Amino acid sequence: MTTTSALARLLRPVVPLPPELSINEVAERLLTPEHKAFLSLPVVDAESRPLGLVSRTRLQDIFMQRFGRDLRGRHPVREVMNPEPLVVSLETSLEDAAKQVTGQLQYPITEDFILVDAEGRYCGLGTVLDLLKAMEARIGQRNRVLRKALVDLKESQVQLLQSEKMASLGQMVAGVAHELNTPLGYVKNNVQLLRELSAPIFELARAQATLAGCLADPGCDEERLAAALRDAAEARELAAPELLEADFRQLFGDTLYGLEQIAELVVGLKDFARLDRAMSEEVDLNDCIRSALLIARNHIKDKAEVEQQLGELPRIACAPSQINQVLLNLLTNAAQAIDGRGLIRIRSWADDDGLYISVRDSGRGMPPEVMAKIFDPFFTTKPVGQGTGLGLSISYKIVQDHGGQIRVASEPGRGTRFLISLPHLRVAAMKRSA
Ligand SMILES: Nc1ncnc2c1ncn2[C@@H]1O[C@H](COP(=O)(O)OP(=O)(O)O)[C@@H](O)[C@H]1O
Ligand SMILES: [Mg+2]
Repeated sequence: MTTTSALARLLRPVVPLPPELSINEVAERLLTPEHKAFLSLPVVDAESRPLGLVSRTRLQDIFMQRFGRDLRGRHPVREVMNPEPLVVSLETSLEDAAKQVTGQLQYPITEDFILVDAEGRYCGLGTVLDLLKAMEARIGQRNRVLRKALVDLKESQVQLLQSEKMASLGQMVAGVAHELNTPLGYVKNNVQLLRELSAPIFELARAQATLAGCLADPGCDEERLAAALRDAAEARELAAPELLEADFRQLFGDTLYGLEQIAELVVGLKDFARLDRAMSEEVDLNDCIRSALLIARNHIKDKAEVEQQLGELPRIACAPSQINQVLLNLLTNAAQAIDGRGLIRIRSWADDDGLYISVRDSGRGMPPEVMAKIFDPFFTTKPVGQGTGLGLSISYKIVQDHGGQIRVASEPGRGTRFLISLPHLRVAAMKRSA
């Protein structure tokens, strides 16, 4: 039989003893250099079935006795062998073999173990030392594999965090693009209109300049003067500047308003996506709320009224873009939980213990079995493409990293409330602990 088991590699092909051999002969064999690594020699029958093991210590015991060699040396070895040696099949795995061997190990170790094939025929000896070495090597290898798995796991976690960030960034960019489009559209219209409406005024200016030129020129004849007068009057009628004035004021006002809205969005976007300098900044969390609301506005506006009650907050050390990510996720979840039209209330306040932000929605709410899992990575009740199931687990981690807590209360049909609490963290304290 050919075998490639790990045990086969430990097999030492020791020539077995026939049971009729005398104790003296066995003792001589054990003393040869080729057997010096062995604690015992195997005894097998004519069919290669193991019968027993003769251990070195057993023989030594006999020969230590007075006249031991003379009295017993001629007896068959069968008399002194262990008739119930440890027999391990070569097909056993290394781990199971180790379990089997160590389970029956006697201290001090006096015997090796016999390795047999699937039919139970003798193949060779195994030593406990070899077995332990092989186990040690295997454990070392497993450790390396585990360490590698751990590194891979950490990497994929980083990638997941990144992909959820990209997903919310994608949502955000789509929302902001939409928000920008509306003012951009009417700013463009207004500017086109202003260009058309201003053309006759330039005509008028030109006609009036020609007329003024004529009046100032002593050589200008009656005919040219009359034509210039006529042109100027016509141009004035066409341009009707007294009517245009109100339109212009309106158009410029609207255009400026649109541009201000665009500027506000751009600033909000910049605030929202700014790269944090670790937690080295002291931030007004209300700014984070406003910034997240601005970004989520497009997502929310068709689903819910937003009610804000933002209390006075002391500045705290935090990573604002991470807090923004948490708030954006809570707001998005709230909007997604609302069927038809509802209400989202966002409140902030502070007391001696910390700062609080609560996000409450009038949406579907959730049963206890869903609530128990919402912070688990990948748990989502949303269809593919709408939910990654990572938002809340990441939010949980972010809030925890800030030394805070995120809690939830919900009732099916009545809505959900998330409460974030954060401690009063100062930059100086962060630096001390870093
Ligand atoms: N405001 C909420 N109302 C009802 N259910 C919610 C609310 N927020 C979260 N959930 C539930 O928690 C799940 C996990 O949320 P989250 O981690 O943000 O992942 P995702 O939004 O991608 O599904 C959601 O699929 C939903 O079932
Ligand atoms: Mg979510």
